[in-house]
Amino acid sequence: MNVHDSEKMLGILEKEGYTETDNALEADLIIFNTCSIREKASQKFFSELGRIRSLKRKRPGVRIAVAGCIAQHEGRKILGRAPHVDFIFGPQNLHILKDVASGRAPSISLDENPYIATRDLPAKRGDPVRAWVTIMYGCNNFCSYCIVPFTRGRERSRPSRHIYSEVYELAAKGYKEVTLLGQNVNSYLSDVNFAGLLRMLNRVEGIQRIRFVTSHPKDLSVDLIHAMSELDKVCEHIHLPLQSGSSDVLKLMNRGYTYSDYVERVAELRRIIPDISITSDIIAGFPGEIHSDHLLTIEALKNIEFDGIFAFKFSPRPRTKAALMRNEVPEETKAARLSEILALQDVITLRKNRSIEGTLQEILIEGESETDPEKLMGRTRTNKIVTFSKNGTSQGTFARLQIVKGRTHSLEGIAS
Ligand code: 5AD
Ligand code: SF4
Repeated sequence: MNVHDSEKMLGILEKEGYTETDNALEADLIIFNTCSIREKASQKFFSELGRIRSLKRKRPGVRIAVAGCIAQHEGRKILGRAPHVDFIFGPQNLHILKDVASGRAPSISLDENPYIATRDLPAKRGDPVRAWVTIMYGCNNFCSYCIVPFTRGRERSRPSRHIYSEVYELAAKGYKEVTLLGQNVNSYLSDVNFAGLLRMLNRVEGIQRIRFVTSHPKDLSVDLIHAMSELDKVCEHIHLPLQSGSSDVLKLMNRGYTYSDYVERVAELRRIIPDISITSDIIAGFPGEIHSDHLLTIEALKNIEFDGIFAFKFSPRPRTKAALMRNEVPEETKAARLSEILALQDVITLRKNRSIEGTLQEILIEGESETDPEKLMGRTRTNKIVTFSKNGTSQGTFARLQIVKGRTHSLEGIAS
């Protein structure tokens, strides 16, 4: 979401005559697009912001903007720590960038934006094959650990015809894959629900793969699972954050489901879409998480066998309920639990990746492999990274590969 926000900022600025540079010394405008989901990201940002101060001394004309969720959250306080900042705007106010060149942009823009879902912004996309498309903004769920509802505001869905037009135009430009973005995509609602939106977008000629992130287990309907199974372009992958294997902890997290609700949904997904890959997010060391809760998460990972997870230590965020909860888990315990979770998942991911050795997979080629320039990389429909030797095929085309090796973070394929 944050990366796509940056693409929108670039899109607006390009229309105003700006061009992008990698060299901060050349820039007229430097924007920090910040993330505040966990504290570590915040700390990293403030040290970066401090470093840029000397640049402003050398080139007083350069303007510095702080955007994103830290901007939204800290607001004016940022000026106290960094008086060299010229603009502060939150994720609901990217449009102010159109007035930066003329000097008409307000220095602080943090208001809730009621038009966010209907007034579309241009985007300058970094990838010529795969595009992010926002379908909804904000979140109403207020999971007790999460800062997002405070920074991105209330849930608002874009009109389906706006989304359809954007995807149609992307197809005309040659894009092959779209990833629909929202904090909670399966609560999308306009004249159609999320399953209806997928049905509409599946008809766009030229687009060959449709993905979406993130889904919330409590809103995963049977209708949606059927739509995923019936629609040929919708890929067999779902990112479905579990967060914890303990129903007690899930309750404290205000997630709106129990562990057994979650397991039932996974069973339904696998019954209707047998090849589906399921990935998840886990938080280690939520306040009140005792050893037996942690063991339930370990059991959950063993039982469900995710294809991959992102796992994080709980990080108390300002304004959230969890930041005020008692029974904090000590840092060393959080770290130990996180390591155990990650080590176990590595074993599971490797086993799963090995189990598809020998199968044929359709790969959308994204470009050169980052680790080996002699190789190309792409993804399976199930979102697994595959590398393979260059053989005349090129970015944006599909290859049918036989998987010859499954590793923890990628697969190796050969042309079949
Ligand atoms: N501490 C740790 N992890 C968090 N996440 C969100 N907020 C926090 C927090 N305060 C994780 C959740 C979510 C993912 C995007 O980030 O697992 O699904
Ligand atoms: Fe945060 Fe929960 Fe909303 Fe996800 S669903 S953005 S975790 S409040």
